[in-house]
Amino acid sequence: MNPKVDPDLCIGCGLCAELCPEVFEMGDDGLAHAVGADQCEDAGCCEEAADSCPVDAISL
Ligand code: F3S
Repeated sequence: MNPKVDPDLCIGCGLCAELCPEVFEMGDDGLAHAVGADQCEDAGCCEEAADSCPVDAISL
């Protein structure tokens, strides 16, 4: 898995960082960033985060 947040789509709702803090973090720019991309498998929450994003900004 290679989680990515599309900065053109992300509206900074923060849900992904809440659901999957091991992988997603809110940046100073107010957008989410995939900081723990290699931890998706272990964390097991990437799919949930991607599915929950209201604007479908997360690709895996
Ligand atoms: Fe952005 Fe979606 Fe996360 S809007 S903050 S990528 S849940």
